[in-house]
Formats: sequence, structure tokens, C-alpha cells
Amino acid sequence: MRRPIVAGNWKLHGSRAENGRLIEELTAQFPAKAVAACIVCPPFVYLQECARLLRGSSIELGAQDVCAEAQGAFTGEVSAAMLKDVGCEYVIVGHSERRLIYRESDQLVARKFAAAQSKSLVPILCVGEQLADREADRTEEVIARQLDAVLALSGVDAFANAVIAYEPVWAIGTGRNATPEQAQQVHAFIRARLGARSDKIAAETRILYGGSVKAGNAAELFAMPDVDGGLIGGASLKADEFLAILAAAGTQ
Ligand code: PGA
Repeated sequence: MRRPIVAGNWKLHGSRAENGRLIEELTAQFPAKAVAACIVCPPFVYLQECARLLRGSSIELGAQDVCAEAQGAFTGEVSAAMLKDVGCEYVIVGHSERRLIYRESDQLVARKFAAAQSKSLVPILCVGEQLADREADRTEEVIARQLDAVLALSGVDAFANAVIAYEPVWAIGTGRNATPEQAQQVHAFIRARLGARSDKIAAETRILYGGSVKAGNAAELFAMPDVDGGLIGGASLKADEFLAILAAAGTQ
């Protein structure tokens, strides 16, 4: 049984005051019987304070990115050890905004994944195709390439302590989510690709869907057999909406 995860990616949003309000609302209304694990990923500068605000709650903390290097002359970067030090348990790697805007390669993303695991952070590895890839029927080729870079560097067993998020780029922030069937198809492909190397890892790895998940479409997406929760952008900034998505992942 894979415990679902609902993770909020706050991206470049928030302030100390806004984060404080959001966390207060989330923790005050947090359901006692949520089935899914719940994670929030604020910007780097707010992680330490968010860790303090979340203490004693059921909400876990993640970062949005990590440096592939452990330490040294890498101005502007934040290491896995630093994230762990301030209370993070998870870190997103390979988000499409990092891959596309900041030109992160599959190989760099694979190194970030390994760097996270070297400090016992759980990487949330994002994969996803662009609209042109889908239209050219290259979705599986792109996902395979992104996944294989990590498998080549870290091996399939590394996924025992990792989460995958399938996020079609054309669905991110567009209001146009993948249909449950489209998501399921790619999730099944990802699981089969892991399964070619290890049935056990394939059966146990959580694969989240991300891209315009809202309270109104979460339940039908999460109902698909290979969709184990969601990575939520815009809708994670509103407590009511985010908690409704969490509830869509099930209550005991
Ligand atoms: P969205 O973003 O929910 O705003 O589409 C998802 C993501 O980028 O993780």
C-alpha cells in the first residue's frame, strides 16, 4: 500500500507575513484523519522559519531545489546538508521551471537527486514533457530519458527513498490539467520502467501528478491506480484549496 502524498510547491511566492498566515490556517484546519502525507516547499530563505512554525504539526517541510555540490565556491547555491540542517525532509529536483528556464540538464538533475540522498533528504524527482513533445508523440521518450539519467547514476534501489512527480509542462500553471487517463498512462509507463529493473521498487514508489491540480479535479486524478497524490503549485497557496486537495487523497 503506497501512502499518498500531497505536496505544495510555493515557487517564488510569499513573505514572512503571508507564510505565517498560510501555515496558521493549514495547521488550524488540518484534518486529524488525513490519509496522505502533507508537505510544503517554501522558498529557501523562509525554510528555517517555516520549520519552526510547522513544529508539532503533521505537515513536513521540503525545499524547491538543491545544489549538486556538497560545498565550496558555488555562489548563490544551497547544499543538501544546509537543507537538512534547517529541518527539511524533502527536496524537489528537476522541476520543469528549473530544467527550462535555468537550463538544468538531465545529468545535473541526476546529480542533485544523488546529492539530496547523500544527506538523507527524499528527492521529489519531477519529469514531464512539453506540449511539442506530446504532439509529436514523444512523451514516453522524454520521460524515459529524464528517468534513465537518474537510474544510470543512482540505480533503481535509490527509488526506495525517493518520490517521482509527473508534471506535463503544458499543464503547469495553465489551468489545463492532464485528464486522469492521460496521467494514468504516463504514470503506468514510469512504473513499468522502474519495474523493468525491480518489481518491488516499482510497486512501492509514489508517483505524484502535478499540473493545474485543484480541489475540483484532484479526486478524479488521485483515483487512478498509479497516481499516488499530487504536487500542487498555485492551489497550494490557498489553505482551503490545498486542504480540499489533501482530503481528496482520502480520509481514514
Ligand atoms: P500548478 O503547478 O499546480 O500551479 O500547475 C504545479 C507545479 O509546477 O508543481
